[in-house]
Amino acid sequence: MTIRNILFSLLLTGTANAQEATIGNLVNQMTLQEKVSLLHANSKFYVSGIKRLGIPEWALSDGPHGVRAEIDRDDWAYAGWTNDSATCFPPGTALAATWNPGLAYERGLVLGEEARYRKKDILLGPGINIIRSPLCGRNFEYMSEDPLLISKMAVAYIKALQSKDVAVSVKHWLANNQETHRDSIDVQMSERALREIYLPGFKASIVEGGALTVMAAYNRFRGDWCSENEYLDRRILRDEFGFKGVLMTDWSAAHSTVKAALTGLDLEMGTDRKDYNEWYFARPLIRAVEEGKVPMSVIDEKVSNVLRVMVRTKMMDEQNRVKGKMNTREHQRAAYNSAAEAAVLLQNNGNLLPLHFDKIRSVAVIGDNATRKHCNGGLSSEIKALYEITPLQALQQKFGTTVKINYAQGYEKQSSFKEGGNSGQSGAVKVDWKLIDEAVKLAKESEVAVIFGGLNHDFDTESSDRQNMDLPYGQEVLIREVAKANPHTVVVIIAGSPVGLAGIVHRVPAVLWSWYGGMEAGNAVADLLSGKVNPSGKLPFTLPVSLAQSPAHALGNYPGKDLKVNYEEDILVGYRWFDTKKIQPQFPFGYGLSYTHFSIGHFSTDRSSYGKNATIRVRFTVTNTGGSYGAEVVQLYASDPVCSVLRPEKELKAFEKVFLKPGEAKTVEWQVKATDLAFYDESKKAWNTEAGEYILQLGNSSRDIYQKAKISVE
Ligand code: BGC
Repeated sequence: MTIRNILFSLLLTGTANAQEATIGNLVNQMTLQEKVSLLHANSKFYVSGIKRLGIPEWALSDGPHGVRAEIDRDDWAYAGWTNDSATCFPPGTALAATWNPGLAYERGLVLGEEARYRKKDILLGPGINIIRSPLCGRNFEYMSEDPLLISKMAVAYIKALQSKDVAVSVKHWLANNQETHRDSIDVQMSERALREIYLPGFKASIVEGGALTVMAAYNRFRGDWCSENEYLDRRILRDEFGFKGVLMTDWSAAHSTVKAALTGLDLEMGTDRKDYNEWYFARPLIRAVEEGKVPMSVIDEKVSNVLRVMVRTKMMDEQNRVKGKMNTREHQRAAYNSAAEAAVLLQNNGNLLPLHFDKIRSVAVIGDNATRKHCNGGLSSEIKALYEITPLQALQQKFGTTVKINYAQGYEKQSSFKEGGNSGQSGAVKVDWKLIDEAVKLAKESEVAVIFGGLNHDFDTESSDRQNMDLPYGQEVLIREVAKANPHTVVVIIAGSPVGLAGIVHRVPAVLWSWYGGMEAGNAVADLLSGKVNPSGKLPFTLPVSLAQSPAHALGNYPGKDLKVNYEEDILVGYRWFDTKKIQPQFPFGYGLSYTHFSIGHFSTDRSSYGKNATIRVRFTVTNTGGSYGAEVVQLYASDPVCSVLRPEKELKAFEKVFLKPGEAKTVEWQVKATDLAFYDESKKAWNTEAGEYILQLGNSSRDIYQKAKISVE
């Protein structure tokens, strides 16, 4: 056995301590050149290995809701492979709308298996930035405005994905909450907002989820780039969270050699400079070590981080590593489940839904989104899906033999996508009366009209924000006219971030928000409309009436001034703002209807008074009082009415999706820690659960509270 083989067997089988010793040993055998070769890419998505030491090349790939098709090594064109069509899941906001961490877990397993099939070592996701403005182009990739919902989904996703011997890269660290000027803005926020709103998702991903890599954002944070930010990258990520994995840049987000090296960056990716050897973390880093500007110990720390991730993902043990599979029936089923559980029923006057296709003879299917495929949009998260079923296809397949399905386009996609700006959205306001007249005619001739509208990835996309929150392409006029022609009109919104619905909710009886549904979008939405599946999604963000209601916009601090964005709304993000300021949104956070009914009752706590480190046991019963199988997402909010600092009116502390047959009741018990009621006390630089009274509120949205319980903390 060679020394190399002995080292490897120790590395793979040893205890954590033995592994660390062996990693150290391996590092000691490397030249400076070899060490540095592990710290920067050698192409768009690969990092060199060291052949003589048996360290393989590292393969990275986007993205959060599917494994992206192969990209050329040295440019951004697709490589034209024929085996890289993948399973495409509904993106982040849809995942969060399921409020079901079990589905995040299921997705993680599939993504891990497909990444392994494609021989990828790191899959670049999940994207977990807070939804701060309705306009952020990447809201669809992110999950929520609430840190607890994000944390629960992210942890499940990460654990599952990494169990398949692939590392995640949690992104974008930190405060990449808008795309406008993302690579030049400086984000300022209070320490409290950082701790209470923007950090928890990352903390949970690392501490609970064990995320192996983290991607530093493009923007600056308090003056320093996120990829070279001493406070974020050293003090918080490493010292506080104990992160021992790899901190990489976003693509082309490195700005220096020495500063980035000293503050804790490990891996430089995507820099635009053609010669990889001249990247910040290539020859310049070697020179910086030789000149004594960066100690060798710092380089060794980085190389150890890289090797640690390689060991954890069994990169040097291919025989025992997960082999992976692609596009199996189970994978497709997981994508379907995710779409079916995501849809949020916003309105259902007169129980128009579900549609009884066994009795209906004709349906007018209207709208560009009835036939548009979305998996291949959004930029870095775009997927070459094996297939994508559109709503029209699914309705035709499922009901076309007995129901006459008439299709009219209704509106035209007048926008275009241009990377780096949103000017392509400008023309999207024209009302096309010819298309509307056609749609109205069909609606008149049909028993029911279903309009598939919303957005597409000209709007929900990386690299630019939306110009406004409006429904584009004159859809409001279309919806108004169709509803006049046929009172049995359903609107299905396909979008990944908030759109204004004030102009339509009073015109149509039923509104279903079905997100971008991934490759099974059409099948899921058809089953939801027919009642085969009962809607159980809940909004993962507040849906404002208008942009002006939204905190960042109400305070005029989006997209910032002179490339500085001051998060003045502080901790009052999303429903925390709406509920505290008593602003009535269009639909609140956590909201969603069902085809059945639920009652939530018998809410109690095990005691009325608790010590600061106690566990509060909360009990309640949910009953399905309606006539069909369904699921309710029960949500626990806490408020602290008397406190030395401003507290939000409500904060989400626990939730669970409970599945029930008609008539079935279930008693649920949760444990909430008294420390979960704390706020971040800037004066103490610590979390503080102040003694006093707290009100626990149980409901099924931030505005629909069924029962309250008062407790005190001593
Ligand atoms: C995005 C990342 C992505 C990377 C690689 C960047 O532009 O911000 O989220 O993973 O590109 O495609």
